[in-house]
Amino acid sequence: MAERSLAGKTILVTGGAGFIGSNLIHFLLRTYPDCRIINLDKLTYAGNPDNLKDIEQDPRYQFVLGDIRDRDTVVRLFERADMVVHLAAETHVDRSIVDAGEFVLTDVYGSFILLEALRQARIEVFLHVSTDEVYGSRDEGCFSEGDPLNPSSPYAASKAGADRLGYSYVVTYGLPIIIIRPSNNYGPYQYPEKFIPLFATNALEDKTLPLYGRGTNVRDWLFVEDHCRAIDLILRRGVLGDVYNVGANAEAQNIEVAERIVDILGKPKELIVLVQDRLGHDRRYALDCTKLHDLGWRPEQPFAAGLEKTVAWYRDNREWWHKIKDQSEEFKRFHESYYKGRK
Ligand code: NAD
Ligand code: TYD
Repeated sequence: MAERSLAGKTILVTGGAGFIGSNLIHFLLRTYPDCRIINLDKLTYAGNPDNLKDIEQDPRYQFVLGDIRDRDTVVRLFERADMVVHLAAETHVDRSIVDAGEFVLTDVYGSFILLEALRQARIEVFLHVSTDEVYGSRDEGCFSEGDPLNPSSPYAASKAGADRLGYSYVVTYGLPIIIIRPSNNYGPYQYPEKFIPLFATNALEDKTLPLYGRGTNVRDWLFVEDHCRAIDLILRRGVLGDVYNVGANAEAQNIEVAERIVDILGKPKELIVLVQDRLGHDRRYALDCTKLHDLGWRPEQPFAAGLEKTVAWYRDNREWWHKIKDQSEEFKRFHESYYKGRK
């Protein structure tokens, strides 16, 4: 198959003001000097214009404040795009445990609106970003793309609904969709309610690091830049209709990650406190990524060095996260109610 090209193309990114989206937009503008990016983002509590401040004036970049559930906006933007990378979602598992409503409405119904628009548009490739969490948990071995989906959290179940809805549009309408299932990302610009930025910023403030359960849950940590390289490659070489796992084969128990973070910052281990576990907490995620390796991708960032770089970024960009942790009512409201009494 001839490789698709991103040169000179217009790429519509949904959720581009979030963690992965803002890293991806920077990556694409750097890698393809003549590409154009349209970023459709609703700027929920997790969307942050500060992530993209440096490119606001770039003529190749356009920000559209809007909701992926707004059919007219989506149809209009699809008319101008050659490729779509769909990242917009509600993404925090703990929030989905408190209230799953927005997850169903955004992750499932929002994806449905985009898929419907795709039926009428001439898009070369629609890359749907799912998650490894759709497979559920397993104690040993790893998941391949053909394995059954057994999502355990409302977040993962919403993502699984969208993932399979995408698949149904491939089978039913023959649409040019590729689904990817990445593992846990880490890196700069991640909202500080997620594990690594929460722990790094709490440690920097000499606050406790609330480790769920016994801290023995395992995640496979993928550096966000490696993820961006995978997205780029899959846009060019991925087989339409296929699913690709994207993992780094960098498994670590949460307790190890927490200890590394305090070590990197020279803080005492006593900051790490075991707290009441997350409900339905998946023990371990692990992916077989042979399909993606065969396309020509390998993770480049070893976890130890990637974590050091990431922690250094939060150390050096206090203003970015102080604005969220100290000034965002939404952050404070959720954080205070969710962690209160988790002893
Ligand atoms: P994030 O929470 O940092 O950002 C989500 C973005 O989507 C925000 O900018 C938000 O404003 C926007 N958004 C939310 N609802 C919207 C709507 N209705 N219309 C338009 N925009 C909306 O998320 P992230 O960590 O960057 O994750 C991006 C995608 O990757 C998600 O689909 C997530 O499920 C998936 N994913 C993330 C990880 C990870 O470790 N972060 C791993 C696997 C998959
Ligand atoms: P998280 O960043 O929320 O990602 P996900 O749940 O999607 O994997 O959490 C990563 C791991 O860290 C997960 O096993 C839960 C754990 N965790 C804690 O122990 N304490 C915390 O305060 C948070 C937010 C997460």
